[in-house]
Amino acid sequence: MAGFASPEEAALDPMPTGITHVVVSRRAVGADSAIAEVEHADHTSAVGVRQATERDRGALHEMYRAFFAEVETPAYWGVTLRSELVEVDEILADGLAFVAEEDAEIVGFVLARRKEGTRGLLSDIYVRPNARRNRHGRALARAAADALKERGATHITLSVHVANAPARAAYERWGFRARTLTLDVPTEELTRRLSGNG
Ligand SMILES: CC(C)(COP(=O)(O)OP(=O)(O)OC[C@H]1O[C@@H](n2cnc3c(N)ncnc32)[C@H](O)[C@@H]1OP(=O)(O)O)[C@@H](O)C(=O)NCCC(=O)NCCS
Repeated sequence: MAGFASPEEAALDPMPTGITHVVVSRRAVGADSAIAEVEHADHTSAVGVRQATERDRGALHEMYRAFFAEVETPAYWGVTLRSELVEVDEILADGLAFVAEEDAEIVGFVLARRKEGTRGLLSDIYVRPNARRNRHGRALARAAADALKERGATHITLSVHVANAPARAAYERWGFRARTLTLDVPTEELTRRLSGNG
């Protein structure tokens, strides 16, 4: 699995922001990953996506903390960082966690799940703030999509906060369309409204 299916394909991709050209020769790192040597205007960096391994667990947890702090879940859902990290470990063990690297530093992750029927779930995706808009998100989503496709997923779903404009823009660009909406109302308000005449 790789963000870029092959060096040739990476070379044909439109250039991410600030990248002037992709160096054609690059090194493969393991069977499931490919690292592209990408030349920025001011420096050369190696970027790529690979399947996360047990050795990445600490980095994944550290990034998940940042993700959890940035993308708030309503408190009433009762989701805790601790329960989320248990899920991270489950997904890591299931082989559906991927990390993006830049100069051997992990800058992002994606977590996926194969659900019932032929549904795949893109559970969480995160890129460190200073590494955004360099198409790591795209490469991560590609790795997750490839893995889910291999496992028989015909469709991929995800949830996103209405106010999360960057994520919504990315998902729309990748072809996601709204199919369901999650609505909420304070129970007090609902009962008050339903007991009135309005
Ligand atoms: C969503 C996120 C993962 C995108 O990562 P990224 O590496 O910046 O994404 P990419 O560079 O691959 O961008 C993909 C597309 O998204 C869109 N996009 C991304 N950020 C955007 C922004 N701030 N404003 C407008 N469009 C944006 C662009 O259309 C872009 O395509 P382009 O490069 O061809 O123009 C990243 O913003 C992030 O980690 N956000 C915080 C965590 C989060 O919200 N996760 C999603 C929870 S549902």
